Amino acid sequence: MNQTVAAPAAVPALSVRDLRKTYDGGAHKTGVEALKGVTLEVAPGDFFALLGPNGAGKSTLIGIVSSLVNLSSGSVSIFGVDLQRRRDEAMRLIGLVPQELNFNMFEKPIDILVNYAGFYGIPRAEALQRAEEELKRAQLWDKAEKMSRTLSGGMKRRLMIARAMMTRPRLLILDEPTAGVDIEIRRGMWKTLKDINAAGTTIILTTHYLEEAESLCRNLAIIDRGRIVEQGPMKALLAKLDVEGFLLDIDGGLPQALPAIPGATLVAADDHTLDLEMPRAMDLNRVFAALGEAGIRVRSMRTKSNRLEELFVRLTGENAQDGTAQPVPEQVA
Ligand SMILES: Nc1ncnc2c1ncn2[C@@H]1O[C@H](COP(=O)(O)OP(=O)(O)O)[C@@H](O)[C@H]1O
Ligand SMILES: [Mg+2]
Repeated sequence: MNQTVAAPAAVPALSVRDLRKTYDGGAHKTGVEALKGVTLEVAPGDFFALLGPNGAGKSTLIGIVSSLVNLSSGSVSIFGVDLQRRRDEAMRLIGLVPQELNFNMFEKPIDILVNYAGFYGIPRAEALQRAEEELKRAQLWDKAEKMSRTLSGGMKRRLMIARAMMTRPRLLILDEPTAGVDIEIRRGMWKTLKDINAAGTTIILTTHYLEEAESLCRNLAIIDRGRIVEQGPMKALLAKLDVEGFLLDIDGGLPQALPAIPGATLVAADDHTLDLEMPRAMDLNRVFAALGEAGIRVRSMRTKSNRLEELFVRLTGENAQDGTAQPVPEQVA
């Protein structure tokens, strides 16, 4: 008889365990605790968003994963390769697209890509072939011989992605690739990223645009003040955001059995309070009709605050733009 053997679970593309980072505050200052015990896992092949407001710790996390920042404690592994014990091996699996454009504007895209590959020991003939592939995928092939300075903003950003892909990373990491760029440019980048992901590369990007996470990513984690506050499939998160909660104060007592209201959840919080959760699109009249029929009289109601929703206001609201979430820079005496 055949025995069923469970398939081994796929090795995560990224596994982060209880990661902490305190930046040294200098001789007379206490350090900044940028990460306060972050644990997360990204499956191979995933398109994963790390969503959070300014100052949340996104760049710190990305910096540690890509070995630009030292961790204080915890562990990181990339496709099962421990970052601290086998750093070089782990780094070879990663491609990084930093937030700022950092290529030489006076070089041509083709040279930028081929020279970059040269740093990683890729032979020139192979590099030329890869460069053609990557420039085509980034819709930049016709600009291969133009001075990079003359490319549009969107093209420059796609060039950053093409360059990171030259080493054929299994995990591509982008830190706020579209911060401050207009919607047309963002859409162009999204297409390139989707193509890269469809071809098998795992992608992690940080963003403070909910819309960006929504159009690109299957899974996400939300980070706020150095902690992961939500993690899971994008769809589940949107469903959660689509639910409204109310507390209803009831006149008199509650019946033994509460009425069933299709689509909504109704539970007794105490003898005089009902806790109602319902889809945003649902009609409140239906709820009141059902309550009335059951002989329940609602005296007053208030909205329950939704932690997630408050967070999104912080993420996408005006404050996210003017940097109020950032600590005030120290005055230099
Ligand atoms: N090099 C550094 N030295 C000291 N504090 C830092 C440094 N880099 C970031 N921080 C602080 O760590 C926190 C997280 O920052 P960061 O990771 O850049 O957040 P995000 O990328 O989400 O905006 C912030 O309070 C920031 O001021
Ligand atoms: Mg950042």
